[in-house]
Amino acid sequence: MIPDEYNLSKLFPEEDLRKTFEKVFDHNVIRVIHGMASAGHIDHLEFTISTGKEAHVFRAADNSGHYRAVKIYKIETSDFKRMEDYLHFDPRFERVKNDKRQVVFAWTQKEFSSLRKLKNAGISVPTPLAAKENVLVMEFIGEKGEASPRLKDARVKDVNKFYWEIVKMIAQMLNAKIIHGDLSEYNILVREQKPVIIDVGQTVPTIHPNAKKFYERDVKNMLKVFHRMGKKDLTYEHFYEDIKKAKESQEKN
Ligand SMILES: Nc1ncnc2c1ncn2[C@@H]1O[C@H](COP(=O)(O)OP(=O)(O)OP(=O)(O)O)[C@@H](O)[C@H]1O
Ligand SMILES: [Mg+2]
Repeated sequence: MIPDEYNLSKLFPEEDLRKTFEKVFDHNVIRVIHGMASAGHIDHLEFTISTGKEAHVFRAADNSGHYRAVKIYKIETSDFKRMEDYLHFDPRFERVKNDKRQVVFAWTQKEFSSLRKLKNAGISVPTPLAAKENVLVMEFIGEKGEASPRLKDARVKDVNKFYWEIVKMIAQMLNAKIIHGDLSEYNILVREQKPVIIDVGQTVPTIHPNAKKFYERDVKNMLKVFHRMGKKDLTYEHFYEDIKKAKESQEKN
């Protein structure tokens, strides 16, 4: 007899919910989470922060009660063709086999190492703590246990000040020779009125053949965001120049 606390039909009497649980927490994920707990990165998972197309993100706590964010990439629904295109440019991952699981595992490693690079360059991102298979443990971005809102949902008090934070951040990324590649109001969290960049799996080095295209798309996306936030007169050229100047002044310091 399965004890009640492990009996999924009892824990999740609703079939839909049970199926979702079983999809995320298959045998392998449970093993990896267990390993993360044994290594002290987390103690237990608490609840879901976000469930999307590519990943589930949970709030977890370590054994001193510090919060963590745990991102579990989905194997089945992840767009692994897109992931492959990005991975094969990166010498560390060019040998990754054309196999869904291997591609998603490599992608998780790529996000972990991009977080580390960005953090080391002084850019505000969640501190990466551990990555194994399709599970990534990182700093929880929030205030008083509440996950910080995405820029899309946040109330930014001083738009101008926030604009200069973003300009500085993009300039820092350029100086670190990294292009985010998916910069948007969904991948920026707002903590204490300051931006924190997340979802960095698809970053590319500035020597990538598509770097310019990705960079210009990032700037255009952010331009639209600032228009929506009220900076109606901001032009692409102006934004571009501000970033360029910030980049040069950072280089001097
Ligand atoms: N370190 C973190 N701290 C707090 N919340 C986080 C953290 N990382 C991610 N989140 C939350 O989880 C959401 C999804 O994360 P992320 O953007 O990294 O995943 P994604 O790859 O876009 O997944 P999907 O395609 O499934 O949305 C974010 O919008 C944010 O609300
Ligand atoms: Mg995202």
